[in-house]
Amino acid sequence: MSFSSATAAVDLDPDKLPRHVAIIMDGNGRWAKKRVLNRIRGHEKGTETVRMAVRTCRKQNIPYLTLYAFSTENWQRPRQEVAALMALLKKFLLKEKAEMMAQDIRLSCIGQIENLPDDVRATIHDVCAATGNNRHMTLNLALSYGSRAEITRAVQQIAQQVRAGSLDPDRITENIISNCLYTQSMPDPDILIRTSGEMRISNFLLWQIAYAEIFVTKTLWPDFSEVEFLEILKAYQTRERRFGRVGGQV
Ligand code: IPE
Ligand code: IPE
Ligand code: MG
Repeated sequence: MSFSSATAAVDLDPDKLPRHVAIIMDGNGRWAKKRVLNRIRGHEKGTETVRMAVRTCRKQNIPYLTLYAFSTENWQRPRQEVAALMALLKKFLLKEKAEMMAQDIRLSCIGQIENLPDDVRATIHDVCAATGNNRHMTLNLALSYGSRAEITRAVQQIAQQVRAGSLDPDRITENIISNCLYTQSMPDPDILIRTSGEMRISNFLLWQIAYAEIFVTKTLWPDFSEVEFLEILKAYQTRERRFGRVGGQV
């Protein structure tokens, strides 16, 4: 990623920045289909948008960006597409490692990382270890991620603690549950963006998005631009987040 490109004009309020933006990066296949290209070309083009999204968050001082890159359900896609996505992921990580170091960005991954191919896992391990002390921003990739699987795993952990006698069921709190999720050390997303127009969550961060501000854009992920991202951030700053109260209270 390059940080020298001109910044799109924007006047965001630094006191109202989101701490965490989560994105369902959808529409790569449709982008390719419109151009009579193989779906894989859409995924390749989509990695350029990933770079843009990381760069924009870094420039705007947004500390957490979570990108839904591969869902537990995506394993059901044709074998060649899954293989291409895994290869692209590895290529992306190897290519971005130096830039993540230069820009003080830490890589984190959530999901069933154990189910990824060995070489991809090794690359993830390497980049997470190398960038582990970086503090300016966390790039959090959701890989083989499914929210129901994540919650199921949390319930299993909690049940084991109860069985072992180290946790009283009456003392199970929302915090304890949050701390058993993959996202344990992160704030909940303030913003959820989905590209390409589908009005659904597709098993993404179901617990964590309880109060996220939702933005769905018809733009396909490979066409999603810095200008549009900044427009969403600007629109977020005008939303009144009431968290159940009435307007005058917030
Ligand atoms: C998102 O684009 C990328 C992944 C889910 C891996 P899609 O591949 O879902 O694109 P569409 O929805 O078919 O257009
Ligand atoms: C959601 O997109 C998963 C990712 C973006 C990785 P999908 O394209 O898989 O979602 P559905 O199947 O249309 O709900
Ligand atoms: Mg899709």
